[in-house]
Amino acid sequence: MGKARNRKHPPRDSFRRQIDYLRVSITDRCNLRCVYCSPKRKKTHFAPSDLLTLEEIARFVRTAHRHGLRKVRITGGEPLLREDITGIISAIKEIGVPDISLTTNGVLLARRARELKAAGLDRVNISLDTLNPVRYSEMTGGGDINRVWEAIDEAEATGLSPVKINVVPIRGINDEEVMDFAALTLGRDFHVRFIEYMPVGRTSICLKGVCVKKDELMEKISTLGSLRKLPFKGKGPSRNYRLEGAEGIIGFISPISEHFCDYCNRLRLSPSGMIKPCLLSDIQIDIRTPMRRGITDEGLEKLFLKAVSVKPEKHKLSEQGSLVDLPSMSEIGG
Ligand code: 5AD
Ligand code: SF4
Repeated sequence: MGKARNRKHPPRDSFRRQIDYLRVSITDRCNLRCVYCSPKRKKTHFAPSDLLTLEEIARFVRTAHRHGLRKVRITGGEPLLREDITGIISAIKEIGVPDISLTTNGVLLARRARELKAAGLDRVNISLDTLNPVRYSEMTGGGDINRVWEAIDEAEATGLSPVKINVVPIRGINDEEVMDFAALTLGRDFHVRFIEYMPVGRTSICLKGVCVKKDELMEKISTLGSLRKLPFKGKGPSRNYRLEGAEGIIGFISPISEHFCDYCNRLRLSPSGMIKPCLLSDIQIDIRTPMRRGITDEGLEKLFLKAVSVKPEKHKLSEQGSLVDLPSMSEIGG
């Protein structure tokens, strides 16, 4: 199984967007319970046999790679809860995917950073919504912020960099920390990204009025110095800025107020083997059942191309307000 060169251009969907990015959620379990993510009621998890195996994930990635896949991000739940995480990354690297990243809450990362880097991981995004240890514990259902800082330091030391820090500002909970987060970029080469809260799933916070928009965040951050806009590279949803003299970057991801569906280049694969062409739609295509029933490589390729072709033009969050009937992020992987 050598590194196949991907000769093909990535396929285009019905709206002419090239699809070259796959987000793979490898578990629906998490060791934290963030207020905006975890479902209100106790949730049932997939049985281990429901989850795609390492081999099944690799087989689908290989299929997408034959069609020009350039980037894979591993998400969850918390992906480091899977024992075979290193094997999954090695397999994806072996297939020849040029860019492999991981989104994690960081709690279990410090002691595995080195091994993951050696397996082929390029970068990590670490979720951290507050700098206050007590508030961190409250917001995450008991998490220890010290472990996240150890993870951040270790990720940097290992070269899983630049370390991206994902912050979801929520009014009345952590919104007055926005400047402290922005100030982190002054002394270190972090990429702090403020992600607009998306009202998805029945989570434990009230859905209305908690989202803090980019303009308000920028106004607060500007009190630290002038924010220079960085050129938009045409990839990824983040609009990036740098505070004068800062080492790091500040990004804003605004799925609702400035939706980026026009440039969306991604598909998602759920832990149980559903291809989801859009985070905020219920369209899904099962690949686990066909794989377990012996589908051919050509058959799997057709399912991949079908998922690309049914990708919706855009989400309807701004019109509908909230999408409570979708699974929460811990299931679909943010
Ligand atoms: N809205 C916005 N971001 C969310 N995340 C989880 N749930 C939500 C939500 N409802 C973020 C996490 C993580 C990333 C994968 O998605 O903070 O950083
Ligand atoms: Fe876990 Fe991430 Fe959801 Fe927090 S946001 S509960 S860390 S999956």
